[in-house]
Parts: sequence; structure tokens; C-alpha cells
Amino acid sequence: MTMLSTPPLALADLRVEPGLPTVVSPRAGADASLDDATPLLQQIAEERLERTGGLLFTGFRIQSIDAFQSFAASFGHPLIGYEFASTPRSQVHGAVYTSTEYPPHRSIPLHNEQSYTREWPLRIWFHCALAARSGGATPIADSRAIYRAFDPALVERFASRELLYVRNFGQGLDLPWEQAFGSDDPAVVERICRARGIQCEWRDSEDGELLLRTRERCQAVARHPRTGENVWFNQAHLFHLSSLDEDMQQALIDSVGPENVPRNVYYGCGAPLEADALAQIRGVLDEQRIAFPWQTGDVLMLDNMLTAHARDPFEGPRKVVVAMAQTYRTGDVGDGGTGEPAWC
Ligand SMILES: [Fe+2]
Repeated sequence: MTMLSTPPLALADLRVEPGLPTVVSPRAGADASLDDATPLLQQIAEERLERTGGLLFTGFRIQSIDAFQSFAASFGHPLIGYEFASTPRSQVHGAVYTSTEYPPHRSIPLHNEQSYTREWPLRIWFHCALAARSGGATPIADSRAIYRAFDPALVERFASRELLYVRNFGQGLDLPWEQAFGSDDPAVVERICRARGIQCEWRDSEDGELLLRTRERCQAVARHPRTGENVWFNQAHLFHLSSLDEDMQQALIDSVGPENVPRNVYYGCGAPLEADALAQIRGVLDEQRIAFPWQTGDVLMLDNMLTAHARDPFEGPRKVVVAMAQTYRTGDVGDGGTGEPAWC
């Protein structure tokens, strides 16, 4: 009796289209289950990810969150949680999270994950479990190209002055601190802040709510630890008050005062960012944006320092989940992490 067995998948069974993202898919007729393809996909990622910045795996029948989680973990690094969150997310399963829970009709501008702090994942995967009926892309951009596209004087100014992110949690306006830090114990929050060089300050609201303000001095640009390339690496354009509609900016200032708005960002010494600098940043990011449509079952794997991501508005149901790995910590920046430099 002859036993039939499936021949192993070969590189020739895959189609690899260079670019950002580099699109990897099975060739027509190749029987490429995810399990069979994973060793080859790991090899391709090893060779290409830090050159192109991002890979899109499409057509590999990734049909469950579990399968996605195993796939992301198969690249050799344990998946990590989401600490000191910027936006609401839910844990879907294990180390897989929803992508940001943000109203569907709004865009999320390009950003590198957790570049508003000094500790971030080097790898991030997005899995499209359900493509939206309309819109809902996850546009990306080359952070090296963004860095090179700016006026060098702006880069020099931001790189040397760095940034100070100020967040006021709670007040019914932004994430509660309990959610951002994953604990309702102020002592735990203080411990996390100390370990990460974040200044924290508590105060009581008029109705007795315990409110938290954090101030964290961070990089505006960064050097990739493996490729040595410089990247634009901050969220000034997202945290600055000007990211909100003018009506909303005024309403927030009227309601809580300028120092208590949920989030804002300054130069490292506390000096305001210039409106024209923010306009240039937003303009360059727009020019560098690359969008492609999701197919249900796709996985996008990014080097989080080399490639930024965004979210387009959408209609109808959409489910895109996220996993991250390889925490990277920068050394102390500028003032040694005290948040109080003497220069600007
Ligand atoms: Fe993100």
C-alpha cells in the first residue's frame, strides 16, 4: 500500500513582492497551510524585515485568534502585555489585544507603538480577523524616510530638546489611571512610574476623585539598535492639544484649565512646541503614508521602530487585533530621567 504524504513547502511555492509592505503569499496551486508555511515565513522575516520594515502575510488561512497568537509567538520572542497604555484596548486572548477602541468614523494618525515613552516593543503584528465593509485600512510609513524628509533644523531641534509628555488621567475625559497602569493601587502606579522614570503627582478632584498627572521626558528621534538607522520616533502630533478640533480644545481648557487637559506635549524643558513645526510634522507624515486594503485572515508584521502605523475610518463591523514582542528600553535621556532639565 502506498502512503500519500504532502511534500514540504518550498520557497518556490511562495510569492514575495518587495516594497513596504513586502507582500508574501502562496503561489497559485500551492497548498500552504499556516503550519507548513511558518518556517519559511520566519526565514523571510529574518532576511527582510529590518530592511523593508514590514511584511504582509496574505492567503495563509489564519482563521483564529489562537492561530494568530501562535504564529506571532513563533518568531522566537515571548509576546508582551500592554503597559502604560495611551488608548483603550481590551485583552482578546492571552497576549492578543484589540487594536485601539476608537470611534470608527475617526482616523488615528501614523505613530510608532509606545513611542511616547522610553520602553516599547520592537515587533508588532496586526491580524485582520474581519475586514471592514468599507475603509478600515492600517496605513503604514517608513520612519527612516520620515526622519530624512524633515527640515534638518527641525530634526536637530527636536532631537536635542526632546519631548515632555504630560498626561492627566481620569476626570471623565481620558483613560482612568487604573486602566492605563492596570492597577487600582496608587502604590503600584508609583512603583511603575519610578521604574520607568516617570514623574507622578496625585491630587483630589472637587468631588473626591483621586486624580493622577504624569510627566515623562522622552526621545523625539531614536537610533535603531540593530540597523543603527535614525528614525523619527515620538507622538508629539498625537499628544499635542492641537490634535483635537478647535472646539474641543477650547471646551477642555474652559472645563479643566490648560494645565489639566488630558494630554499635551512640550519640549523637554516645558517650552511650547511651535505651530509651524507641528504643521510640518503632520504634512510629512501625510506624504509618507502607504495604505493597502485588508483581506480577512491577513497578518501584518512590522519592525515598530522602522515602520509607523495608523488607522483609517471604517463602516460596519471590523476586527483587527494586535500582538507585540521584544521590549526595548532606552537609557536615560537628556536630564537623566528627572524631567527637569536646566536647558532647552
Ligand atoms: Fe498603535
